[in-house]
Amino acid sequence: MRILGIETSCDETGIAVYDDEDGILSHRLYSQIAVHADYGGVVPELASRDHVRKTIPLIKEVLADANLTPDDLDGVAYTAGPGLVGALLVGCSIGRSLAYGWDLPAVPVHHMEGHLLAPMLEDDVPEFPFVALLVSGGHTMLVRVDGIGHYELLGESVDDAAGEAFDKTAKLLGLDYPGGPALSKMAENGVKGRFKFPRPMTDRPGLDFSFSGLKTATATAIRKEIALNSKMDEQTHADVAYAFQEAVVDTLAIKCRRALEQCQLKRLVIAGGVSANISLREKLEQVTQKLGGQVYYPRPEFCTDNGAMIAFAGMQRLKAQLDEGNNTDLTFKATPRWPLDTLAPV
Ligand code: KG4
Ligand code: ZN
Repeated sequence: MRILGIETSCDETGIAVYDDEDGILSHRLYSQIAVHADYGGVVPELASRDHVRKTIPLIKEVLADANLTPDDLDGVAYTAGPGLVGALLVGCSIGRSLAYGWDLPAVPVHHMEGHLLAPMLEDDVPEFPFVALLVSGGHTMLVRVDGIGHYELLGESVDDAAGEAFDKTAKLLGLDYPGGPALSKMAENGVKGRFKFPRPMTDRPGLDFSFSGLKTATATAIRKEIALNSKMDEQTHADVAYAFQEAVVDTLAIKCRRALEQCQLKRLVIAGGVSANISLREKLEQVTQKLGGQVYYPRPEFCTDNGAMIAFAGMQRLKAQLDEGNNTDLTFKATPRWPLDTLAPV
């Protein structure tokens, strides 16, 4: 079976075709970074308008790349939430309309389930059950995963998401949006130990996170440095970036180890934009190795938003939907806030 996947929840238009025997047949991504760069963050209305311009041309390109016509498809999956409501509505309306026009089942997909299942597009597929750390621009969650749709939320951020903290701190360091990858590059030249930031909420039990204080600690360090030396030189920028990244990575690693121990599991999955971070991957390799387990993550291009993960999650949901007699409902709904643990088990 083959399915088209459409992702438009934020600032990337991602389109892909997934085949349940041959894997991803074709995928394309259009990033709106240039559209939002001048504003230092995503402008929702501009995001929606750009998805309107890009979604259908990209679908045509993806089908042409794979040498397919709509007759070769068995369903159309689209991200229905969570995300920006206007951006979501573009993918939902195009996805639902194409499914109607092509006489195919339409499959609404949860964006974070897409991220969560993205490591399954790789050769070494994690077996259930496992613990998943979902770290993106909008979410930081630890989830116990016993199967598709069998999700137990173990902990989440009480304020900023990890990616959001990367982006806000990067801005303080004068880096362009989205700052996560740029901050991580800057940290490569940083010296360990010059700055030391807290590991929030690690000194008490529990699996929740808080990252907003870390951003404030960074801002204070920068202010002190400027008061002392009247400027921030290049090395100081790199040293602050290093200490910030080290604090985020350590905090995530401490909570991942705690979650694995609490669930008595050894398999850890990491997904979402921040899972592209090399330092985080290396640290979690060490943590899982010490526990005699393994860490699984998607290739870098499938860590950040993409259509492939929506096509893959959509295929799992399509099969369940067909078993239940398919969904012939012609309405569609964009759900900007949508808890992951409310999804139906498959
Ligand atoms: O999953 P994603 O593409 O979008 C959301 O669903 O939010 O994640 C984007 C986030 C941004 O905050 C971005 O700065 C961060 O992921 N990110 C990184 C890296 N690559 C992307 N953060 C740290 N290091 C990276 N290499
Ligand atoms: Zn995402």
